[in-house]
Amino acid sequence: MNVGVPKEIKSDEYRVALTPAGALELTSRGHSVLVEQGAGEGSAFADADYEAVGARIGSVDDVWGESELVLKVKEPLAEEYGRLREGHVLFTYLHLAASEELTQALIASGAACVAYETVETDDRALPLLAPMSEIAGRLAAQAGATFLEKPLGGRGLLLGGVPGVAPGEVVVIGGGMVGYNAAVIALGLGAEVTILERSIDRMRHLEEVLGPRVTLLMSSSLQIQESVAEADVVVGAVLIPGALAPKLISREMVAGMKEGSVIADVAIDQGGCVETSKPTTHSEPVFVVDGVIHYCVANMPGAVPITSTKALTNATLPYVEAIAGRGLRDAIASDPALARGVNVIEGKITYEAVAEAHGLDYTPLEDVLRLSPV
Ligand SMILES: NC(=O)c1ccc[n+]([C@@H]2O[C@H](COP(=O)([O-])OP(=O)(O)OC[C@H]3O[C@@H](n4cnc5c(N)ncnc54)[C@H](O)[C@@H]3O)[C@@H](O)[C@H]2O)c1
Repeated sequence: MNVGVPKEIKSDEYRVALTPAGALELTSRGHSVLVEQGAGEGSAFADADYEAVGARIGSVDDVWGESELVLKVKEPLAEEYGRLREGHVLFTYLHLAASEELTQALIASGAACVAYETVETDDRALPLLAPMSEIAGRLAAQAGATFLEKPLGGRGLLLGGVPGVAPGEVVVIGGGMVGYNAAVIALGLGAEVTILERSIDRMRHLEEVLGPRVTLLMSSSLQIQESVAEADVVVGAVLIPGALAPKLISREMVAGMKEGSVIADVAIDQGGCVETSKPTTHSEPVFVVDGVIHYCVANMPGAVPITSTKALTNATLPYVEAIAGRGLRDAIASDPALARGVNVIEGKITYEAVAEAHGLDYTPLEDVLRLSPV
């Protein structure tokens, strides 16, 4: 199959959808890989690194024009809509429920559009979202430690303390992928860590893997209020799949926090779990409300593209190999997780939540595939 990798054009996006290591896996199986000139630069991969493993370097027109399978990181932007056509399989993060304009553009293109974020295994895991949550969780603990420093506006506290001086208190709300990873790094820095969770099973698992150094508490409004008042760093890491994040920390709770403490609201991409949160960017990552520093960067993994690109390719490559090796139709027939990733195909929306979000028609994937010529 002809596999193409365009350069990402979204601002502040330095990731690329395929590493040279991933390209080698594809070229060694006989696929043709065409990478846009400079596509890997932001992740420290030179064009020559791709050429060394048998990939070709080309212009943006070559990549979109020649490819059957187009690998991206972020959703296509308006200037890319016209490049999509029937016969393309587009594999990338899409987040279609957030944009009717993009959804309509994909419908009009006739391309098969598979979203990383809705690839879902039978046990409801999201294997192509998880690596970014791991990274964001780890970064959240680092951001908390950094913005506690006095010159950056924080309390002026070393999170790990020193012998004879108590460490800082980190409160993580939501003990899923982000929360677990934030806790691991905060523990590593020497902080006191408390995780508030709603699922008892999840807390049992966290106790097994994290041991007695972390305090696990049932999440309730009262507990959240008490815990955040004691915290030096709060990490917001809840997720209710498919829904906006619940506002678990009210404005009054923020006002009751210590002066110079830090909230890292990682759930900001789902609207945030703190009433006072609003999205920020890497160039201006924080703002202050009632003396509390708010770190609310919506694309945290973008700060560490070398790590994020490798972690993303590690997760996507098995699916890329399946699509390239067997064709999309065969690949989705044998893997329901990948089938759940198909959002738009042959001009039809095949992901119910996306159709619902925009009041558009939903067609089950099986119906589209049954109708089209084999
Ligand atoms: N800002 C970024 O760059 C970035 C990057 C990756 C993920 N995220 C976001 O981080 C959030 C967490 O993602 P995740 O992968 O860890 O999800 P996850 O599903 O692995 O974990 C969410 C956890 O929240 C818990 N939870 C739900 N309601 C709760 C409540 N009321 N109190 C306490 N816990 C509760 C769930 O039981 C679950 O364990 C999501 O909103 C995700 O979109 C943001």
